Amino acid sequence: MSLLTRFDRYPLTFGPTPIEHLRRLTAALGGKVEIFAKREDCNSGLAMGGNKLRKLEYIVPDAIASGADTLVSIGGVQSNHTRMVAATAAKLGMKCVVIQESWVPHHDAVYDRVGNIMMTRLMGADSRLVEDGFDIGIRRSWEDAIRSVEEAGGKPYPIPAGASVHKYGALGYVGFAEEVAAQEADLGFRFDYIVVCVVTGSTQAGMIVGFAAQDRAESVIGIDASGTPEQTRSQVRGIVDNAAELVELGRAVREDEIVINPDYAYPAYGVPSQETSAAIRLGARTEGMITDPVYEGKSLQGLIDLVGKGFFPADSRVLYVHLGGAPALNGYAGYYGQG
Ligand SMILES: Cc1ncc(COP(=O)(O)O)c(C=O)c1O
Repeated sequence: MSLLTRFDRYPLTFGPTPIEHLRRLTAALGGKVEIFAKREDCNSGLAMGGNKLRKLEYIVPDAIASGADTLVSIGGVQSNHTRMVAATAAKLGMKCVVIQESWVPHHDAVYDRVGNIMMTRLMGADSRLVEDGFDIGIRRSWEDAIRSVEEAGGKPYPIPAGASVHKYGALGYVGFAEEVAAQEADLGFRFDYIVVCVVTGSTQAGMIVGFAAQDRAESVIGIDASGTPEQTRSQVRGIVDNAAELVELGRAVREDEIVINPDYAYPAYGVPSQETSAAIRLGARTEGMITDPVYEGKSLQGLIDLVGKGFFPADSRVLYVHLGGAPALNGYAGYYGQG
């Protein structure tokens, strides 16, 4: 039985996302570990989709019930999350205010005019640039934006960074775990590991709770891309505890069920290492699978390195969860303009 039957869901996605066998990447990495991808990046027709829509599906009913007329959120200049909130507001006929902070020490000439932020503005959101640096916590600029909507006579609905520390923020990825189990039943096998990028935390936290119900949460390997792994871990812990109670998991999630690898976020959030760029190129050249230098390129780098190190036993089946994020590539022409 689903843990989510008691919760309202407003559909923003196409439905279950495809699982793709990455045969050429599997071969390029030596063939001992079978690599599959779950394509959350192809989950919707809303502004190129991505992981935030699964989260927002369980938040929107609360936003509508609150009588709000404006969604207010926050992220970096090239935030995928604020793009998804802007798309959701457009779809619902609401207004949208998003704060875009200077999270990334990267100065491509068009960084604040292309990709995610361009689409966010195109969808009518009031996108406000502020100078503050990277922090996944609650920010003054976001609280100011909420107040500014109230002062203008509007009714704001606040959505925190990554929709993560929202009471319903993890439910979508609890559902992901149930969806994977149903797809495994059709495929006739189970994945031994699930590799996922983690920054603000509710994607992995939801998976942990969902897979804990199947007694295999420790097979979810979070690859930190924040560069502040202690803060990310404690945020994941908090979201896991809240979500476990909310869905009535019936037990506490153990510390060893929260697996976060901090080794691949270097040199900084939003800045690719040479190894990140090599991973992005390998995914693109073997599978036509596009990943970005902020999130998915780092989790792909982690996957590739862990296969090379023999972390996964021979014949393991590993599910790489592709969470979206390709639009940010437009802000990195200095790295990838020539391929
Ligand atoms: C493309 C992409 N991948 C991964 C993540 C990380 O997910 P979370 O913030 O839920 O940890 C995000 C958002 O932060 C994202 O936009």
